[in-house]
Amino acid sequence: MPPPAAPAICVAVPLEDDLAARLAEAGAVTRVDPEAPRARLLAALGGVHGVLLSTLVPVDAEFLDAAPALRVVSTAAVGYDNYDVALATRRGVAICHTPGVLNAAVADLTMALVIALSRRLFEFGAYASSGAWARGEPQPPLARDIAGKTLGVVGYGRIGREVARRMRALGMRVVWHDVSGAPALADGEDAPDAERRTLDELLRESDYVSVHANLTPQSRRLIGARELALMRPGAYLVNTARGPVVDQAALTEALRSGAIAGAGLDVLETEPPDPDDPIVRLPNAIVLPHIGTATEETRRAMRELAVTNLIAALRGETPPAIVNPEALAARA
Ligand code: GLV
Repeated sequence: MPPPAAPAICVAVPLEDDLAARLAEAGAVTRVDPEAPRARLLAALGGVHGVLLSTLVPVDAEFLDAAPALRVVSTAAVGYDNYDVALATRRGVAICHTPGVLNAAVADLTMALVIALSRRLFEFGAYASSGAWARGEPQPPLARDIAGKTLGVVGYGRIGREVARRMRALGMRVVWHDVSGAPALADGEDAPDAERRTLDELLRESDYVSVHANLTPQSRRLIGARELALMRPGAYLVNTARGPVVDQAALTEALRSGAIAGAGLDVLETEPPDPDDPIVRLPNAIVLPHIGTATEETRRAMRELAVTNLIAALRGETPPAIVNPEALAARA
């Protein structure tokens, strides 16, 4: 009997040589330029069994129709809101992602935004770099302490809990809300000591509201005009999760009117933003270009896990981080 043919693997993300070599041992690899138009990617998927894909490429009926032999989509990201998981599951296509390895990096950035907002770091930095300090102009207003303030964590999963740990160490009181109820803890995991609130209670009570919810139909625009109006006038909003969890037009208005004091945003509704989007120019908003996981170590760990997931799925094993294990049963 001839040996089974090596699975066909398509790599549509940048990948280090050693990780590409691991894939080459597992199958026949073709590469598609991550910047190539979608039509070129779809045309390459004909006989492909496994694809390493950016989380920004929608996996929908068109994508799955173009890849009838597909068994696994593995992304080097934790968020998979652009993927139609239900459809993939029905077609027996495993969806894999990279939870866990990025918790610390995203929590660090969240902490950095809370500190930067509280201590007016960007305003003081601009004061120095613009020459205003050298000219002896009046300084920006005094900043605020973090210790003793309340942080409301919206989305108390892995990253939300990591943020809670850090901020408690800085002396904050933490309360939390999660749209999907009490988050499940994996073996050996603990949840920092923090009290649960309804969303409205959390918004009324918090000096800082930090968003860590996955983007799902339930969490889309979870923070809208009504919710922003419930926040304290001096409160700050931080979002390092997904832009559409917050109604950006309503947030822009709340920042303009001073209804809330400021925002730290690593994510926007549209990325990159429209050049005329006012939110990137508001003096009380710090906007970053989606860099929550953008450290060398974390991005490397994410790609390693994505490759491990892909190879396991192609071998018929259960990948360490599969979103839809039912897909494996559907294919068996
Ligand atoms: C980053 O946004 C991710 O989903 O990993």
